[in-house]
Amino acid sequence: MNANSTDSTDSTSDTSTTDSSAKTPVTLLGLGDMGIALGRAWLAAGHPLTVWNRTPEKAGPLTAEGARAVATPAEAVAAASGPVVLCLLDDASVSETLEGVDLRGKDVVNLTTNTPAEGRRRAAWASERGARFLDGGIMAVPPMIGIPETGGYVFYSGDRALLEQHRETLEVPAGVTFVGEDAGHAALHDIALLSAMTGMFAGITHAFALVEPEKDLDRARFAGLLAEWLGIMSGSAQDLAAQLESGDYEEGVVSNLAMMATANETFVATAREQSVDPRLLVPFIDVMRQRVDQGYGDEGLAGTVGLIRSE
Ligand SMILES: NC(=O)c1ccc[n+]([C@@H]2O[C@H](COP(=O)([O-])OP(=O)(O)OC[C@H]3O[C@@H](n4cnc5c(N)ncnc54)[C@H](OP(=O)(O)O)[C@@H]3O)[C@@H](O)[C@H]2O)c1
Repeated sequence: MNANSTDSTDSTSDTSTTDSSAKTPVTLLGLGDMGIALGRAWLAAGHPLTVWNRTPEKAGPLTAEGARAVATPAEAVAAASGPVVLCLLDDASVSETLEGVDLRGKDVVNLTTNTPAEGRRRAAWASERGARFLDGGIMAVPPMIGIPETGGYVFYSGDRALLEQHRETLEVPAGVTFVGEDAGHAALHDIALLSAMTGMFAGITHAFALVEPEKDLDRARFAGLLAEWLGIMSGSAQDLAAQLESGDYEEGVVSNLAMMATANETFVATAREQSVDPRLLVPFIDVMRQRVDQGYGDEGLAGTVGLIRSE
């Protein structure tokens, strides 16, 4: 699994154990729902685990399974010989937790959700303090952690050598998807996918609002049709990528923007008929109409990307 684990040059490793089967110790700061799930996965896989949480009582379930709880973040980090994993609420809580903590020679893996700029700033911050740094965006919910069949994974970006050295350990709770040495790219991928998901949730919400008054409509059957349709149409992401890549926004267009803009009027009229406020759809409909009005009705959706960018 870890091609580099035998020849890595880990300046931080003070546990050069004589037992080659020994698992890398993990230090985990933050024991909310996600932290507990991560900790359980490492314990189940035999990794020695040291934990800290602001509210100490929350360490109980993990200490019962063999983790060692310590009183302060400084104590946890000082004892760390493997990755120091942060799974806290937000970037501000990372600052608060690591304030004044000596990070020299440590490998910091931040799984706290943040923005790309926060990820980059945190990487610079860690580097100034003598630590190697990886930022991560978790594409899973706690019940998926430690269960590879669920398909959960983490986007990582930042120090590639750190990732390769600890790949085997990081693969225990969820799959590893490295997206580059720019420490902001894990958050960028994470938030881009979650933002697209938010649009999908808005669409699903609108669709159920449309059918809700129809008491003889089978909701489960409708949900199945809806999920299948969204799956089929998600292929449009590749079409968009190809158009943006080539710069030819009419490339491969099967449903042009002018047609879609007209169909959108039917969507809004249907919403009104069904007593549904179309406000979840209207912002995007407006952007499509704006592009058509600019004279680009033969294009696909690629031109709308530039319309919502501010530079
Ligand atoms: N849960 C999910 O489905 C999910 C999925 C993907 C990513 N994530 C990300 O994973 C991270 C953790 O999520 P979670 O579900 O574990 O959240 P959570 O259950 O709300 O736990 C938050 C954790 O942050 C700690 N914390 C909050 N403010 C703090 C501060 N100022 N100083 C020190 N510690 C502080 C909390 O400590 P206390 O116990 O003392 O309050 C707790 O350990 C978040 O960034 C979240 O976006 C979560």
